[in-house]
Amino acid sequence: MSSENKKKLFIKTYGCQMNVYDSHKMADVMSTVGYELVDDYANADMTIVNTCHIREKATDKLYCELGRINKHNKKNNREMMIAVAGCVGQAEGDEIMRRAPYVNLVVGPQSYHQLPELIAKTSHKKSERIQLDFAADEKFDSLPAETTQSGSSVFLTIQEGCDKFCTFCVVPYTRGAEYSRPAADIIAEAKRMADNGAVEITLLGQNVNAYDDGKSRLTDLATKIAEINGIERIRYTTSHPRDMDDELIAAHGSIPELMPFLHLPVQSGSDNILQQMNRKHTAEFYLEIIAKLRKARPDIAFSSDFIVGFPGESDKDFEDTMKLVEQVNYAQCYSFKYSPRPGTPGALREDTVAEALKSERLAQLQALINRQQNEYNKKFVGKNVKVLLDRKGKYKNQIIGKTPYMQSVHLTTKLESFGNIVDVRITEMHANSLGGEIIDIKKDNIAA
Ligand code: 5AD
Ligand code: SF4
Repeated sequence: MSSENKKKLFIKTYGCQMNVYDSHKMADVMSTVGYELVDDYANADMTIVNTCHIREKATDKLYCELGRINKHNKKNNREMMIAVAGCVGQAEGDEIMRRAPYVNLVVGPQSYHQLPELIAKTSHKKSERIQLDFAADEKFDSLPAETTQSGSSVFLTIQEGCDKFCTFCVVPYTRGAEYSRPAADIIAEAKRMADNGAVEITLLGQNVNAYDDGKSRLTDLATKIAEINGIERIRYTTSHPRDMDDELIAAHGSIPELMPFLHLPVQSGSDNILQQMNRKHTAEFYLEIIAKLRKARPDIAFSSDFIVGFPGESDKDFEDTMKLVEQVNYAQCYSFKYSPRPGTPGALREDTVAEALKSERLAQLQALINRQQNEYNKKFVGKNVKVLLDRKGKYKNQIIGKTPYMQSVHLTTKLESFGNIVDVRITEMHANSLGGEIIDIKKDNIAA
């Protein structure tokens, strides 16, 4: 089909990296029925908004975006199919149809493979709300093998869903039970990605280190993926402390391709709050894992997620969080004010923390995290580090690369050797990135 005959599809993605991966998969499946991806909804025949339900603000963003698209369509007298995908679709399908009646289709995360069929149905009826089951195995089997993901750093979903039921979290309700894809399928996909030029693969899962297909665990996957020609770097996210088994910890010392950076969310440093969050571990247990990982891979850097103002969080509980952050010394972190999510046990609690106090605690925590991040980055100035040249920057001759420790490095160079790992001398640090100069380019024998 020539490009003029193709229908135009725009996908707006919110939320986590798994949504980014899912959006690529939706583009893949839509390309089988003649849609090509465009980077704007202005002239699109169809727009998919891939949504996130994790926090309140994420949901608000959806309705803003839908309103904008509808206004544009009305003003320009445009017929466009609008679909809402992702976790808000799963959790609030009826609400979306009510609040945004111009939406044609709502589809949850487990049903993307049915998109062409659903669109055909929707063209007959005015709109369709797909009530979604959690058949993750069926979805993965039905998605096309080809991928629109290109570039040197790619995502690969290996596991979906969550059985942990933290009391603040909607994921077990929107993404369903834990499901691990068969290892053979994952390895085949990783090989295809390497053939397409991928150098770095990030393995994705809501509970990625709980991966278990009955035969292989995450360490087995990492070992096999490390053997694939062209794959120099492996990462995985997001992990739960309880699933950090000894083999995986040891793998950080024995598989050079496993990057020395781990996002290991702890959420709180208070045993009391951890228990009420149903995290099923203590602060000490978490600190022990951090210590074991540092022993296995001394240069490993950590990041975490934190929630402040969970119901019942006292000053002492919050101090325990600050203390844990001091003890770990993070390279970077994400932190959020608790927002009650409908349907979760936390939302039923009446001992809520006042918004003003949540804001105060968040500011205090973020000041500490920022200080740690700055101190961490400062240590790199004047040093040489291996940087994967990943993508173009905003400015002319600017390339953005990534260190093994997940820092972005801005480089000014005429060179466009994306996918190469080069030696870079770090010359400066900015708020969220580093700046440097390439000192050597060697394609062969590159170690991280
Ligand atoms: N309120 C605030 N933050 C939340 N997160 C998940 N649910 C909530 C909530 N209800 C945060 C957690 C999680 C990250 C992805 O989002 O820190 O690790
Ligand atoms: Fe949510 Fe907890 Fe599951 Fe993570 S482990 S997805 S925070 S319920």
